[in-house]
Amino acid sequence: MDGAPPAVSSDAESLDRSSVDWGAWHASYERPDSALGKRLALVQAQVRAALERAPRGRIRAVSICSGQGQDLIGVLADDPRRGDVSARLVELDGENVERAREAVAAAGLGAVEVVAADASITDAYKGAVPADLVLICGVFGNISAADIDRTIEHLPQLCAPAATVVWTRHRNPPDLVPHITRTFERAGFEALAFDDAGPYGVGANRLIAQPAAFRPGVRLFEFIGHQALWPHLGTSQRAALAALFRPDCSLVELVEAMRALPYGLPSEPTSESMLREGRGTSEAKHLFLGHTIATRFPWAQPELVHRVYRLDRARALELYGPEIAQAVPAEGLVDVHRYLTLVLEGRRVAIDATLPGPPWDGRSPLPVACGPGEDHAAGADPDADLRALESERCDAGARAALTSARARAALPAAPA
Ligand SMILES: C[S@@+](CC[C@H](N)C(=O)[O-])C[C@H]1O[C@@H](n2cnc3c(N)ncnc32)[C@H](O)[C@@H]1O
Repeated sequence: MDGAPPAVSSDAESLDRSSVDWGAWHASYERPDSALGKRLALVQAQVRAALERAPRGRIRAVSICSGQGQDLIGVLADDPRRGDVSARLVELDGENVERAREAVAAAGLGAVEVVAADASITDAYKGAVPADLVLICGVFGNISAADIDRTIEHLPQLCAPAATVVWTRHRNPPDLVPHITRTFERAGFEALAFDDAGPYGVGANRLIAQPAAFRPGVRLFEFIGHQALWPHLGTSQRAALAALFRPDCSLVELVEAMRALPYGLPSEPTSESMLREGRGTSEAKHLFLGHTIATRFPWAQPELVHRVYRLDRARALELYGPEIAQAVPAEGLVDVHRYLTLVLEGRRVAIDATLPGPPWDGRSPLPVACGPGEDHAAGADPDADLRALESERCDAGARAALTSARARAALPAAPA
């Protein structure tokens, strides 16, 4: 590909070290039945359709915040037009860049380059545009509504005549998909296709206006991450959660962010689902904390623990509120709770971030929310250990009611 790879700015580098693990985010792609797996299938179908429509000859593609590049590389691996395609994937996270480069090499795609650069500034595309295919997937849910407009309005700069843009956006409130569709139209793009996959929408639009002249140095957006998803949370909750995106986020801020996250069962047992929906249970919160602390603060030696305990209705009311308490039978039920332990100032202490509470001093234990019970250290596969304990020790019927109450808890309000 022609054109020098753009330099990475220092701001951009710092984002690469934020607490959100964008490498782990891609793990859901390994499960085709996950929400992200289904979204990937729809994105790939639009990429294939764009390649099929393209006239004979060279096809140029760019991917904005390309992650590990499964969408484009996955198609090019066996598409009949693969020999015609040259592409630039722009991604900041070092692990994702490496993974994408490995996939490019494995698929033998000599004309596809993966650059470690800030995709939010047009400089990143110098030498790779005008493109016939522009991918902007997993971005509109991570930037402000004003930046969505700004980015779409500038896209004609990156486009060749009749270029296809493939984009995604989740449909959680506030559902911005109708607004995005109108913004594309205003910017000179006609709608080609739109599909829903669970919480995600996948769109394809074609440029029918004239392309705009490429201008380097234009900022398209600021990638603020999942903060963009939490308009339904209070200001202090959002401020606490914003720490997850700061490269200098401390251990205390990380734990406080999880405590501030509303209690509720995310639709999938993944950190991605928890952060996107802005709710988590002891299971999701401590899995995320354990993984993130092990990566960023390994000296704290996080260990997950499962506590088998008896939950009665009065305690459920006190801890989780009336909706969940109603799902607890009068005689109570056996449940399994997850927390973690950390080594702080030379001693191992219990840390439970399930619920909010007075500020943590960074060294004292945070009491285990469920109260006393029987502890089991988690092994290499904590989720399998938890499921095994649940099936051995819990009454399946009683727990099913509790689980569905947890799933209803803290759902974002429907848009007005
Ligand atoms: C939600 S993921 C989407 C990845 C990919 N497009 C997909 O849909 O599979 C967002 C990606 O944007 C990357 N990212 C965030 N800010 C970026 C920036 N300013 N420039 C380039 N990549 C960025 C993250 O590292 C992450 O891999």
